[in-house]
Amino acid sequence: MNGMSPALRTWIKVNLPPRWVVRLRCFARGLGSPRWGNLRRVRPFSDNFGFDRGTPLDRYYLHQFFQRHRAHITGRVLEIQNTGYTVRFGHDVIEAHTLDINPVFKPTYLCDLAHIDDCVPEGHYDCFLLPNTLCVLRDIERCLRNALRIVRPGGVILASTAALVPLTGDVPDYWHLSADGWRELTRRAWPDTTAQVEGHGNCLAAVAAMLGLAHEELDPAELNVYDARFPVLVTVFAHRSA
Ligand SMILES: C[S@@+](CC[C@H](N)C(=O)[O-])C[C@H]1O[C@@H](n2cnc3c(N)ncnc32)[C@H](O)[C@@H]1O
Repeated sequence: MNGMSPALRTWIKVNLPPRWVVRLRCFARGLGSPRWGNLRRVRPFSDNFGFDRGTPLDRYYLHQFFQRHRAHITGRVLEIQNTGYTVRFGHDVIEAHTLDINPVFKPTYLCDLAHIDDCVPEGHYDCFLLPNTLCVLRDIERCLRNALRIVRPGGVILASTAALVPLTGDVPDYWHLSADGWRELTRRAWPDTTAQVEGHGNCLAAVAAMLGLAHEELDPAELNVYDARFPVLVTVFAHRSA
């Protein structure tokens, strides 16, 4: 509203609804206005992360992450819940085992990762996969410490965790941290190990994920833009020192 007389500016502010004042201000400043279409909604398009539409948006980044590190998914591999990603991305796998706190998944090790004491052999695995799991681990620091104990010296942990995506809803979802938050936590839990912590996503990807859209509904060129302010997924790659 630059260029308007102070009297006109005051009249607009006093007499127009605030929404119109903002519209005029954005127009005058060339700031652009949203065209909401059917995005103006208070319920997402999907109530289960977009699984009913296609592949959930965050899985785009998760699959890229596993693809990039697939050389490490080999030998004795342990995975949380089921062997889905071991089978999909692994090669020359000697053992494909699972760990979960929930008996429904019939895991090899039925236990809480925070209390693995006599349950899981120490230093046994070449690779531990924790896809989209860190956010739901209640005693997160203890779980991180134990995850590293399970892999052999020289072995790896490949983990991912939700950031700007809806909370799970049916089970507690404790930690939707930024990449910096996970860097800090992994530094505390693994003082002798350098973890590579990366955020993935941008504001469009975050909005799409929040609304439950599938990643196939966006273009890779859009998904591949990275803006650290809008992490959809955070990935952690850690190599246990030999
Ligand atoms: C969201 S699922 C992630 C794995 C799934 N395959 C995926 O790709 O989304 C998280 C799993 O972690 C398990 N879980 C939660 N807390 C746990 C704990 N403290 N110890 C072991 N497993 C745990 C849950 O039962 C659940 O099966």
